Amino acid sequence: MTDATSPALRLLVLEGDGIGPEIAAATCKVLDAASKLFGFGLVYERAEIGFTALNNQGTTFPETVLEAAKRTDGVILGPVSHNEYPPAEKGGLNPSGQLRKRLDLYANIRPARSREGFAPRCGKPLDLVMVRENTEGFYSDRSMHLGPGEIMPTPDLAMSFRKVTRQASLRIAESAFALARQRRRKVTAVHKANVLRISDGLFLECVRAVAERYPDVEYEEKIIDAMAALLVRDASVFDVIVTTNMFGDILSDQASEISGSLGLAASLNAGEDHAVAQAQHGSAPDIAGRDLANPASLIGSAAMLLAWLGERRQAPALLQAAQAIEQAIDLTIKAPELRTRDLGGPLGTRAFASCVAANLAEVAKVG
Ligand code: IPM
Ligand code: MG
Repeated sequence: MTDATSPALRLLVLEGDGIGPEIAAATCKVLDAASKLFGFGLVYERAEIGFTALNNQGTTFPETVLEAAKRTDGVILGPVSHNEYPPAEKGGLNPSGQLRKRLDLYANIRPARSREGFAPRCGKPLDLVMVRENTEGFYSDRSMHLGPGEIMPTPDLAMSFRKVTRQASLRIAESAFALARQRRRKVTAVHKANVLRISDGLFLECVRAVAERYPDVEYEEKIIDAMAALLVRDASVFDVIVTTNMFGDILSDQASEISGSLGLAASLNAGEDHAVAQAQHGSAPDIAGRDLANPASLIGSAAMLLAWLGERRQAPALLQAAQAIEQAIDLTIKAPELRTRDLGGPLGTRAFASCVAANLAEVAKVG
């Protein structure tokens, strides 16, 4: 409960591009309802990123945004159209990459679970979490200290470097095993060490070292291509999946879609000191500004941020609010008439957010 000694939560809202402003507004609406019901104070700071910032400030990621992210308790990041941005020297920086690299948000946590009313595409109910390394791998905009991880020595030769470090592999493995201990105690490491012997070899060596310290957690390894098939065959057998950056990027979308819809997939970028809630999907410019977008993914991501803050602060109100938001989303989408268009329902973004907020009050009463 809020009292004189518990300061309000300060969240930085970065709306992003495309449907970003709409789904960010929907998310704030649900967060406001949660803060009233569970009695934690909430204060927003807002800053421009993406095309708005490019037009007004000459860059898609002004330095002041990083400072704001550092001084606030957490960030709500809307999707960005970084694919359409101009090159970096003309101000086009990918806000996701900037935040992940510069706040050292090394763990990208992506749950995929089936929900009532949505038949899992693999035929069995699933409940897994993808733990994706988030700071290196094949990501050319964040894996190098200086300069990009891609080069073009001649007009006809392009090369990308994939970076795997012991430190990043150990800490992502640690996150995965610690999480598995709170769940069904199973970790699956996904790799391609049969081909990438040195880099994925190092990754596996690190995961195995951490696995040794968690004898109570079952540990297995799968090669990425086989894993793609196994997820489709039966995703229910997986609990925590740990993998390098790009494999995790791809597999997390696959797992979410198998669980029901990518449009429902929550995602948190977390480090030691900072966390950024970010929807798993993109900015959908084709439906932007028409009240058509499904905000469930960003709302769920915001719930993950509250849970992360709740654990760090030992604040039961935040943990309860996070759980209640998840339940309110489930309760809403289970009714076909309360779904957004992407899920075959009639509701717009704003109406859906109002339903989640109303269901939150119901869940809070029962809970
Ligand atoms: C994601 C996205 C990002 C990534 C983009 C927006 C840079 O696909 O969060 O999964 O590839 O990491
Ligand atoms: Mg992705």
